Amino acid sequence: MKKGLIKVSAICASALICAAALTGCGNDGGKLVMGTNAAFPPFEFTTSEGLVGEFDGIDVAIASEIASDMGKELEVADMDFDGLIAAVSTGKVDMVAAGMTATDGRRKNVDFSDTYFLASQVMVVAADNTDITKADDLKNDKKVGVVLGYTGDNIVTDDLQIPEDKITRANRGLDVVQEVKNGKLDAVVIDSATGKALAEKNGLKVVEDPDAFETEEYAIAVKKGNTELLDKINATLAELKASGKIDELAVKYNQ
Ligand code: ARG
Repeated sequence: MKKGLIKVSAICASALICAAALTGCGNDGGKLVMGTNAAFPPFEFTTSEGLVGEFDGIDVAIASEIASDMGKELEVADMDFDGLIAAVSTGKVDMVAAGMTATDGRRKNVDFSDTYFLASQVMVVAADNTDITKADDLKNDKKVGVVLGYTGDNIVTDDLQIPEDKITRANRGLDVVQEVKNGKLDAVVIDSATGKALAEKNGLKVVEDPDAFETEEYAIAVKKGNTELLDKINATLAELKASGKIDELAVKYNQ
């Protein structure tokens, strides 16, 4: 009799553990899973004491607000930038918050929230560089670095039509910025806030060319047709914009 009871309670205990594990793992349980590429300061980066584990930045702070408005816990899934669209389309993550520019090309595969930040591309060059003052100067035989799959990659490749043998593509902005630092590349084309952050840290400078580089709109991506989540994201974004919280975050993270 006693043995039987123990057995029953053991089954109950493991059933409870299973139930807890299921809610913990499922994307529509107690967690909101944000896909990102945490090599894009000030929007997402890793640090010893981040907002969510080691992850911190403007996007992590915004996503935390979205999760908390939904009564969920935020989980951050860090991956290569060019894997993010597939991750959200296949349901591996619930949304992508990655300083991602809402482009027409991407709109074919995902739905975007309202815009939460405006940016543009800049050129990161050596502090003493004088021959790159506008985007067209990159066409003069310059060696240009970009990050694989970023809008900067499209601009350098398709719009400026820099020859392939002059382009270096890396997985992280820092990797190409370091090549500018050691003189192997003339310039890196990357988003403004990240370019400024990386230039500052590495003793380089930023050159802007608003005529050549259009304004880009950062938005959060969800799986196509996931209007339920999109509406919640937009509601939180509207609240954060109205209260001035997004501007505060931009200042706090020093963009
Ligand atoms: N805004 C650029 C784009 O959408 C770069 C974004 C990079 N973001 C990141 N988390 N690494 O292509």
